Amino acid sequence: MQYKNKKPLLILGIETSCDETAVAIVENGQKIHSNLIASQIQFHKEFQGIVPEVASRKHLEVILSLLKKSLKEAQVTLQDINAIAVTYGPGLLGSLLIGITVAKGMAFSLNLPLIGINHLEAHLYAAFLTSPPPCPPLVGLIISGGHTEIVYMAKNKEYELLGSTRDDALGEAFDKVARMLNLGYPGGPIIERIAKMGNASKIKLPLPRFKDKTLDFSFSGLKTAVLYKLRELKKKNMPISIEDMAASFQLQTARIIEERIAQATTLKKVQQVIIGGGVASNNFIREYLSTKFKEKLQIFIPPPQLCTDNAVMIAALAYHKLKQEKISTLSLEAKPNLRIGKK
Ligand code: KG4
Ligand code: ZN
Repeated sequence: MQYKNKKPLLILGIETSCDETAVAIVENGQKIHSNLIASQIQFHKEFQGIVPEVASRKHLEVILSLLKKSLKEAQVTLQDINAIAVTYGPGLLGSLLIGITVAKGMAFSLNLPLIGINHLEAHLYAAFLTSPPPCPPLVGLIISGGHTEIVYMAKNKEYELLGSTRDDALGEAFDKVARMLNLGYPGGPIIERIAKMGNASKIKLPLPRFKDKTLDFSFSGLKTAVLYKLRELKKKNMPISIEDMAASFQLQTARIIEERIAQATTLKKVQQVIIGGGVASNNFIREYLSTKFKEKLQIFIPPPQLCTDNAVMIAALAYHKLKQEKISTLSLEAKPNLRIGKK
């Protein structure tokens, strides 16, 4: 394989772990030549959540045309590509398999290195695309639709799992609360929009409390508190302000994140924090955290479009894997339950 002598290196990334088909072409892990995302939201909306069978079928329908569009947007041909990167987990098995199969086919036929990427690591890595980039040791937080994890990174790409959710992922909690409020799917962006018109102090919601000093998360209590509050107001025939409820829920989630970041950075004595995943695109949470930690910590959050699922983070991280010769074989398998770091 010729990639070693190539300068610059162009990597084509494929991401199909959930309900977005994404393709990107990135040069040297930094320069974005193409970033395409085909969202399936409209097909899952009526079910208020992702239907796995629908997701894999839709990936299959669009992936080849998305690849062609991506090459066109980057103004390159397949012969200019130096490696193929693909998410191999975690995610929905059927969805992952579409991306992996296409990536393997391309790597084999073009005789290019194949680089399997952990979706969670890529969400964190997106923060390294900010300028200036963070520099470990640091604490990393993933807040997405399927995951809520806090890790310690002593060095680049070395992860120690400090805590994770004991029930719902944060994005999942946003989606479920939005469903209770009849706001539609996906809930996060709608709650953010509605909350702007609400007053968080009008509805008091609890913060989860653990008996031990854990770094784990729990969002089910908060979610249930929203449900009980709605029932109570309905029973008393009192008006329900969806806006106030959304604002109060969103504020509590920001406080939970704030508390865990404070604990983890104190424990590990670090001053830098990176945050990735769909919920990190929430402007209220971004501003809340940067205000709270203004004098104490440096917080790195990728631009919103690189927080939600995308293939730029896959291709960019793959560049560093390629440099370290961390290349996958053509027997790369989908790992729906892949994790990050060890406790
Ligand atoms: O990272 P992501 O795109 O996919 C997964 O890897 O899960 O995250 C999707 C999740 C969804 O639950 C969605 O409701 C949430 O991120 N989300 C948000 C916002 N945008 C997306 N949550 C809160 N505020 C937002 N603006
Ligand atoms: Zn994701």
